[in-house]
Amino acid sequence: MSENQFEKHILCIGAGYVGGPTMAMIAAKCPQYKVTIVDINAEKIQAWQTDDLPIYEPELLDVVKKARGRNLFFSTEIDENIKKADIIFVSVNTPTKTFGEGAGKSADLQYWEKTARNILAASETDKIIVEKSTLPVRTASAMERIVNSNNKGIRFDVVSNPEFLAEGTAVADLEKPDRVLIGSQETAEGKKARQEIVDIYANWVPRERIITSNIWSSELSKLVANAFLAQRISSINSISALCETTEADINEVANAIGKDHRIGSNFLNASVGFGGSCFKKDILNLVYICESYGLTEVARYWENVVKINEYQEDRFVRNINKALFNTIANKRITLFGFAFKANTGDTRESPGIYITKKLIEEHAHVVINDPKALDNARKDLAGLEENLEFEIDPYKATHDAHAIALVTEWELYKTLDYEKIFSAMIKPAFIFDGRNILDHQKLYEIGFNVYPIGKAALTHF
Ligand code: UDX
Ligand code: ADP
Repeated sequence: MSENQFEKHILCIGAGYVGGPTMAMIAAKCPQYKVTIVDINAEKIQAWQTDDLPIYEPELLDVVKKARGRNLFFSTEIDENIKKADIIFVSVNTPTKTFGEGAGKSADLQYWEKTARNILAASETDKIIVEKSTLPVRTASAMERIVNSNNKGIRFDVVSNPEFLAEGTAVADLEKPDRVLIGSQETAEGKKARQEIVDIYANWVPRERIITSNIWSSELSKLVANAFLAQRISSINSISALCETTEADINEVANAIGKDHRIGSNFLNASVGFGGSCFKKDILNLVYICESYGLTEVARYWENVVKINEYQEDRFVRNINKALFNTIANKRITLFGFAFKANTGDTRESPGIYITKKLIEEHAHVVINDPKALDNARKDLAGLEENLEFEIDPYKATHDAHAIALVTEWELYKTLDYEKIFSAMIKPAFIFDGRNILDHQKLYEIGFNVYPIGKAALTHF
């Protein structure tokens, strides 16, 4: 198709974990639209044009290949593409602020504001701007003020369309979302802009799953969805500590409570703690917003979800230290997994980072094994190389190790030859299953001292 045969020109600014997969899905499902993704990072844009995509996400390459070169394009020409676009999705990063007021809690909006100003400077026609990145409540109004502060006679409508995909299942989540949420101002123009975004998703998402709301509800719902999900994990993790000191078993407790349909069985897996770019950031953001409106009790309530997560990571390391006779100095400890969850190479806020640093503080020698996250692990742990090894082969990684600490629930760890691993480890050999995915009884029978999460340890002494 030539340029002007496309029904709409959609642009996405930010080719990361959110922008890349979301736009690839829109392009694959809607050949009538031209979808362009731009980023300031030229290396990333280059990688999106190869078979070695810049992010690891199951089945994503198939979706990209379906549309790439047909109606899906990648570019670093930001201004030129802004000019041609009818609809601009913004999915640049909004990390937690590291300086000044709100440091450590509120979102750093400098990339967002820069993008808004870019859009304003380059535009020659009316546009709909879609907030895809998670943003604090009321960001849209600030953005609308910036972009509409022009005297070019151009109209901008800002719409909120938060992304709920989870990494590792992004393609399935985008193909069959539980819901798509689109918020706008309740004015005639706002509703018209909202309808344009509804029309995009209606190409493959059943209409009853596309929810519309006012813009503030939409922005807040994203933060609250993540806060509720994280809260479930902190709830089950807090109970796992209690299980370890009683004779209760966290899996049995989770199973029993999850059968109550009001509670439900998903997201009740006790673990080393939650990671990922969203949960901690979004909760801290919620906390900051509550504080800034004087809602101190509400802020403290949600802050504790993050505190329990830190407690869980800390407890895991303390358990390792205690089991290894209160000294891990010069002991070789192998991490099975470093990604924040299985099926992704992403390590942002991964418990693996904290655990490794804590083990190194105790002078342990840490070996990191992960099928997809070693490159990111090297970046996260830069400067600590003296006490570290990165090893892609799990058998080599555990050779002469005193202990294994399983951090990520990769399937491959369930199918390893643990007899072979045990025979090459220093005795007594320990395994700490931070995800409860291994066959603990079998490992115990092989000779390991086994420490699951939220259940009694199986030890030979
Ligand atoms: C999350 C939300 O699920 C998604 O809707 C939102 O758009 C972005 O944030 P993501 O961070 O990709 O997605 O992964 P998720 O599957 O939610 O897992 C987050 C963390 O919680 C991971 O570290 C995971 O291992 C951990 N987790 C999850 C548990 O420890 N136990 C569980 O039962 C579930
Ligand atoms: P997310 O998980 O929210 O998608 P990522 O960090 O994976 O976050 O992706 C955000 C992307 O946005 C990065 O690739 C970054 O280079 C890009 N980005 C940040 N600021 C700008 C900007 N002003 N213009 C274009 N791209 C930007």
